[in-house]
Amino acid sequence: MTKKKVLGISGSTRANSTNRQYILAFAEIAKETMDVELFEDIAGLPAFNPDLDNESVPDVVTSFRKKIRGVDGVLICTPEYAMGIPGSLKNAIDWTVSSCEFSHKPVALITASTSGSKGHKALIDVLNVIEAIPAKEEQLLIPFAKTKIDESNKIKDPATFEQLRDLAHQFYMKMTEANSAS
Ligand SMILES: Cc1cc2nc3c(=O)[nH]c(=O)nc-3n(C[C@H](O)[C@H](O)[C@H](O)COP(=O)(O)O)c2cc1C
Repeated sequence: MTKKKVLGISGSTRANSTNRQYILAFAEIAKETMDVELFEDIAGLPAFNPDLDNESVPDVVTSFRKKIRGVDGVLICTPEYAMGIPGSLKNAIDWTVSSCEFSHKPVALITASTSGSKGHKALIDVLNVIEAIPAKEEQLLIPFAKTKIDESNKIKDPATFEQLRDLAHQFYMKMTEANSAS
């Protein structure tokens, strides 16, 4: 079995982010089949500006785009902010619209938030627009997310653990299919 390369992007830039923890928990659950690299620098991307989205594209953006191109799939794990997508995550995605890194890229989406349903839906809509269409089995909404994981990134809630395991399985299958189609 060939391990898949996955880029994990947390929509929270907080040092002790629950979403970052969920990416690490996912990486542990999926470690037999995937190597998950965390992309830690969405806050380092400048505010999207179409005037720079040409030959003057900033180096940090070029490196972000390369990272997405170089992996089999992307795991986005994000909170909901003000009933929507956190600005720094939306900004990072906006930098990929014209360059199409997400187009037909396998993407799994976890929204780990207090509630999260509106942000989750908003992000699915955005992913559809950029052709990164996660199937139902590759989407997971985890409400009350902080209560379901401990400080050593272990999932305390058995149902959530099962959901993450199923998501990892489906995501692996999706990446395998995408590899054989290309
Ligand atoms: C500015 C801000 C806005 C928020 N708005 C929402 C919201 O609309 N819905 C929700 O479920 N949680 C909201 N939250 C709470 C976050 O879901 C919760 O703090 C979550 O754990 C943050 O993720 P993190 O631990 O990865 O930073 C908000 C938090 C902040 C800081």
